[in-house]
Amino acid sequence: MAFSSSSYPEELTFPEGFGWGASTAAYQVEGGWDADGKGPNVWDTFTHQGGDRVFRNQTADVACGSYTLWEEDLKCIKQLGLTHYRFSLSWSRLLPDGTTGFINQKGNCFLKIEGIDYYNKMINDLLANGVIPVVVLYHFDLPQHLEDQGGWKTEAIVEVFDAYAQFCFGTFGDRVKLWITINEPNTLALCAYELGKFAPGVPNPGTGAYQAAHNIIRAHAKAWHSYDSLFRKKQNGQVSIALFSPWIEPANPTSLADQKAAKRVMALALDLFAKPIFIDGDYPTVLKSWVAAISKKQGYPSSRLPEFTEEEKRMIKGSADFFAVQYYTTRLAKHHENSEEELKSLLKDIGTDLLPDPSWPCSQASSWIYVVPWGIRKLLKYIKDTYNNPVIYITENGFPQGDPAPLDDTQRWEYFRQTIQELYKAIHLDKVNLQLYCVWSLLDNFEWIEGFSSRFGLYHIDFENPTLPRVPYKSAMEYAKIIQNNGIKGPL
Ligand code: GAL
Repeated sequence: MAFSSSSYPEELTFPEGFGWGASTAAYQVEGGWDADGKGPNVWDTFTHQGGDRVFRNQTADVACGSYTLWEEDLKCIKQLGLTHYRFSLSWSRLLPDGTTGFINQKGNCFLKIEGIDYYNKMINDLLANGVIPVVVLYHFDLPQHLEDQGGWKTEAIVEVFDAYAQFCFGTFGDRVKLWITINEPNTLALCAYELGKFAPGVPNPGTGAYQAAHNIIRAHAKAWHSYDSLFRKKQNGQVSIALFSPWIEPANPTSLADQKAAKRVMALALDLFAKPIFIDGDYPTVLKSWVAAISKKQGYPSSRLPEFTEEEKRMIKGSADFFAVQYYTTRLAKHHENSEEELKSLLKDIGTDLLPDPSWPCSQASSWIYVVPWGIRKLLKYIKDTYNNPVIYITENGFPQGDPAPLDDTQRWEYFRQTIQELYKAIHLDKVNLQLYCVWSLLDNFEWIEGFSSRFGLYHIDFENPTLPRVPYKSAMEYAKIIQNNGIKGPL
């Protein structure tokens, strides 16, 4: 279709077969934290410790109660008319201590059956209703037992994750055809292992994120190869990893220093994971040289960013079948010179200040989100150009309201509508191969350290009401129309 931005069509019809989904994650919605033999995970431990690290010391022990209220979630999914539902498996619900060895020792133990049955029902119900499950193996909720052994900071996790992945492919892969190994490894590495703001809550400035990232990439690649060699032929599915990425603009577009700073931020935020996996098995050169130089100044014997062996590079390169990306916000990058006392921090490694533009609306509920719908189009174009025009799935995108959240969320819907327009432009003008868009989130849920104060749902939940009723926001009704029309109909 040929048109300029000025002669914009009134109706925006998406390509036939375009996927419209919504996403959730096990810890954020399921509750049932110790039901039927589920083992504890790091978020259970972290929230139970209190210490004001989470809004009002809230926990997701009950959350949306999806472990027992799945049928209610299904009603929402059907009401929306979703083509895809992206959810995650609770690793410690399936394997209480995280290892398959533990389960196997108990044979056909009751605990194992409970976890499997829960997800079997979800998957079967989705398929029976024509909804494609997109299943995430791991979304921040590491079994506590594995964290006790070093978690993502130790190389041993690579084998354990692979065994878990194989267990899931073998158990559900006859019906699940779209897999995501790990949700937002970059958020996990930074928030959990560098800053210590997310569970397990121990900061490791300067090294934690790189160590975790290194093992996450190895674990992902190993699991992808297991699928490729052991399951793909029979199951015919696809496996990838979901990468969070902001869009980054230079603060001063004519400043070479700011342009380079913007590139460094994209290298750290997205390319640190995407380049090894989608291009050549190795980290971005710009990042390797910056971190090596700073590490040297700091007296480290080698770079704080570890190196892959040649064999690992070969394993990592090409270990994804589609590009899954999650976008929330945009920032401006301003170059600054590192000073000695600022070192030993991943964010300082790239010598950049990240700023919002004062004209961008800021979400009251999640202060890190500045609403910039056009950023998603630029990000998609960047992925197309940098990663050889892959098939792209947006597996999360959303805007929160604060609490109390009005059911008439007209302003929020306006952001979604603008975002969908940008997706349309990306597909039709930029020729990006985008095939799926998932809203974060189906339900209001436990938003990590913001607890229940930040509401991303298409459906409202009154967490004070023991029956946890799901009530659609206006955005849910509008999204249902978009899905029904496969795009935007009516005046823009
Ligand atoms: C993502 C994360 C989700 C959700 C969302 C909104 O980073 O994968 O679990 O919390 O952000 O903040």
